Amino acid sequence: MRIRAAVLHEPATPVVVEEVELAPPRDSEVLVRVAAAGVCHSDVRLADGELGAGRWPIVLGHEGAGVVEAVGEGVTHVRPGDHVVFSFVPACGACRTCRAGRPNLCEPAGERGVAGTLMDGTSRLSLPDGTVLQHGLMTACFAELAVVDAAAAVPLPRELPLWQAALLGCGVVTGIGAVRNTARVRIGETVCVIGCGGVGLQVIAGARLAGAALIVAVDRDPAKLELALRRGATHAIDVSTGDAAAAVRKLSEGGVDHAFEVVGRAETIRLAWDVLRPGATAVVVGLAPKGVEVSLPAIEFLSEKAIRGSYYGSANVVAELPQLVAFVADGRLELGEVVSHVAGLDGVEAALERLRRGEGARTIITVDPALAGYQSVAR
Ligand code: APR
Ligand code: ZN
Ligand code: ZN
Repeated sequence: MRIRAAVLHEPATPVVVEEVELAPPRDSEVLVRVAAAGVCHSDVRLADGELGAGRWPIVLGHEGAGVVEAVGEGVTHVRPGDHVVFSFVPACGACRTCRAGRPNLCEPAGERGVAGTLMDGTSRLSLPDGTVLQHGLMTACFAELAVVDAAAAVPLPRELPLWQAALLGCGVVTGIGAVRNTARVRIGETVCVIGCGGVGLQVIAGARLAGAALIVAVDRDPAKLELALRRGATHAIDVSTGDAAAAVRKLSEGGVDHAFEVVGRAETIRLAWDVLRPGATAVVVGLAPKGVEVSLPAIEFLSEKAIRGSYYGSANVVAELPQLVAFVADGRLELGEVVSHVAGLDGVEAALERLRRGEGARTIITVDPALAGYQSVAR
């Protein structure tokens, strides 16, 4: 079938919204009508060629939600009409890391995600001339319809508006998961969040939900710091106004228990290390361009400081989603305030541009405005 989708033909060129061919779902796959999709900084990294070669032509978009249109053979957990959010790691359940209880690190899903295919190693997307298109992070939801692996279509209650549900797919799972699963922040602990964009603002919400006593937000954009304070940060520090590490250490009386880097740059990863108290851990959520290296003062390992990565919130998305949905339903997690812009599919490139410039927080692409259920105007 012919659908409209946002295609990246070459890195560092604008994405083009055009007609592409989408083949029907095969066994264990699901066809979803996309309602809404968020634009994340990882889309920028991919679009700018920063994650390495061989990633194009591609249909981008990995944070989204929609309504099941059709299911392939063997799919029993959803049926047409069901609301779903995309998980961009459709864990196989059988590989070593899946069996070890770490489905976010599923080995075949990781390989296919980089290759731009679905789990069977092939693509359902092509250009009208037959050129094969890659599926962005196994999701490719900057498109009217998407074929995804069954495990990538996670059922949602109908009450949750799909424009909000879309945000769960990457930002919320990644940000709140980093706090709850990767760092396991406990009540009364101190936290520093470096980078308060679409994902960092969810880390802040997660820290508040976890009962952190001190949540220091760090960014270079005063507008983001204001949003961070609204979302539960107790203090805000603008890196452009001086020695941010010293300021955080002073506020936390010697360093924080947990630092989260949510930018993906060497200097901010180093900053996350520099704000730690002895025995504390820095969690790197930000995706850095391929080839970026970080240097650390090795003598400080003496104080048992640690640094670790976090991918997709170290989450079991299927198991954790109901709790995240419940947080939204009972008002403990507000999603609308991270949305700075709302646009149609034609607005993907402008949203990527805003992220490059550091302007605004999340843009929601309402691919199908009626299904997305977005009522009010952009905040
Ligand atoms: N120092 C402090 N803050 C910075 C710096 C810096 N040197 N550079 C950028 N920032 C801030 C920006 O002002 C912005 O608020 O980092 C934030 C990044 O936010 P977004 O561009 O909205 O990116 P987001 O979608 O949140 O993703 C952040 O997490 O999942 C990953 O791939 C994603 O690497 C990306 C990161
Ligand atoms: Zn993302
Ligand atoms: Zn697996």
